[in-house]
Amino acid sequence: MTIVEIMRCSPVIPVLTVERLEQAVPLARALVRGGLPVLEVTLRSPCALAAIAAMRAAVPEAIVGAGTLTQPRDLADAVAAGACFGVTPGLTAELVAAAGGVDLPLLPGIMTPSELIGARRAGFTACKLFPAREAGGPAMLRALAGPFPDQLFCPTGGVTTHSAAEYLALPNVPCVGGSWMAPRELLQAQSWESIESLARQAAALRTTAAQHRG
Ligand code: 3PG
Repeated sequence: MTIVEIMRCSPVIPVLTVERLEQAVPLARALVRGGLPVLEVTLRSPCALAAIAAMRAAVPEAIVGAGTLTQPRDLADAVAAGACFGVTPGLTAELVAAAGGVDLPLLPGIMTPSELIGARRAGFTACKLFPAREAGGPAMLRALAGPFPDQLFCPTGGVTTHSAAEYLALPNVPCVGGSWMAPRELLQAQSWESIESLARQAAALRTTAAQHRG
């Protein structure tokens, strides 16, 4: 799948930090049951790569990606763990070079028009806007649609249920990213049903967004 095909699979990509490996599979199952098949596991915990591999093995319907890729080695590690896609918070020349050498659909992070020009030169027609709220939120994406009408975005960072609907109503936003479906407290409490319920509400946001667009 291309990164754009992956972005079109789900209105919300949960951004997950898995601190204990045994959380990985029940977490993925809860999110998929709630209607969110695209999952981003951030490389922010020692078990993140093992969590990706465990989710891929036990929940084949999940499209599991690796996030917080900041150095070339992270891309190789993501591929080795079986990640279906990668997400970076920003884009450097060495990440662009590494992306060319691996078979991993990539969603690179940008925050400014200059960074976006660089990403487009490297061939990325879809980017993560990060951190989206601080970058200007939906107004920033409306402004970027002028000079870059064909560019797609996954705004991430500070996205809430309310702002997600506003972002998803924009034609250049097929999906948003956020961590609100799987907060640390619910993971620690193993509240899989609560996570499933939050996922179900997030999955319904596409309908809400369509209503916004009229
Ligand atoms: C992150 O980097 O943690 C993601 O951007 C998610 O941000 P959020 O916690 O503000 O949703």
